[in-house]
Amino acid sequence: MMPFVHTTAAVYANVLLARQTYRLRLHCPELARAIRPGQFVMLRLPGHSDPLLGRPFALYDTVLDEEGQPIALDVVYLVVGKLTGLLAALQPGDRVAVWGPLGNGFPDFSALDHIALVAGGIGQTPFLAYVRALLGTRGYGGRPPRRMVRRVSLYYGVRTADLAAGAEDFRAAGAAVHLASDDGTLGFPGFVTQLLATHPPPQHLVGCGPEPMLRGLAQLAGRWGVPCHLSLETPMACGIGICFSCVTRVRTTNGWDYRRVCVEGPVFDAASLAWDT
Ligand SMILES: Cc1cc2nc3c(=O)[nH]c(=O)nc-3n(C[C@H](O)[C@H](O)[C@H](O)COP(=O)(O)OP(=O)(O)OC[C@H]3O[C@@H](n4cnc5c(N)ncnc54)[C@H](O)[C@@H]3O)c2cc1C
Ligand code: FES
Repeated sequence: MMPFVHTTAAVYANVLLARQTYRLRLHCPELARAIRPGQFVMLRLPGHSDPLLGRPFALYDTVLDEEGQPIALDVVYLVVGKLTGLLAALQPGDRVAVWGPLGNGFPDFSALDHIALVAGGIGQTPFLAYVRALLGTRGYGGRPPRRMVRRVSLYYGVRTADLAAGAEDFRAAGAAVHLASDDGTLGFPGFVTQLLATHPPPQHLVGCGPEPMLRGLAQLAGRWGVPCHLSLETPMACGIGICFSCVTRVRTTNGWDYRRVCVEGPVFDAASLAWDT
């Protein structure tokens, strides 16, 4: 049974990575030991009633101590509203309520040749730990490292250059990084899915980002006949399966039904999503 941790964690660091984008490092060894790539945590500020509810953030990566034991976790967040606005003011030593690990996480593979991770907006955040797990340079959730894939590419699209956060982290982790920007100020001029379409198909696709991008990726995967998983960024209230505020539609034998993104997701087989029903 996966451990569930609800704690108040001290802030180690909160550093600016790109415009309005920060990396928050939280001291929470128990959670850092348990969490796996593709899972997420909920964050809330103790003593604040506005916002009242926690907000979901993907694991960016875990941080190891001198003995190689997970001691902290990083999340990377874009300031868009109430909580993220408050997070941006945090200083080392401040405290944040955090609970998790939540969600199903990304799929494992064995002996895959090439996987492409496709990110739009702030959708790159779940992929750093996944790159390390896929290449077998780091184990997560108490599992030993195991190489699952020979080659990992990250396709990462942003609206404009100064919103790109963490590309150097992905290169250092061993991914081949391909960048795109809507306004042409960084890398390929256009959508990340258009950039991806100029390359040969990989054996598997995994996407995270805004829904229009994910729909485009699912269509490209369908045309290529390549399996594809998508991590959804649906707004959430409880994060633990109780409130049903996060549902998405999936195909069933009877047509479609709802699934809770926080429990049955956030990662879904793209072919299972009932986008147009
Ligand atoms: C599984 C999962 C993982 C995620 N991982 C990450 C991650 O790693 N990093 C990350 O940055 N985000 C991530 N997100 C998204 C993140 O949860 C949201 O960005 C966050 O909840 C925003 O919280 P907030 O309180 O700052 O914004 P809120 O105040 O709740 O605002 C939310 C949205 O509403 C808009 N909004 C707010 N106020 C108004 C207004 N008055 N009028 C019109 N629009 C308004 C904002 O622009 C924003 O888009 C993830 C989401 C999910 C589901
Ligand atoms: S956020 Fe409450 S059920 Fe998913």
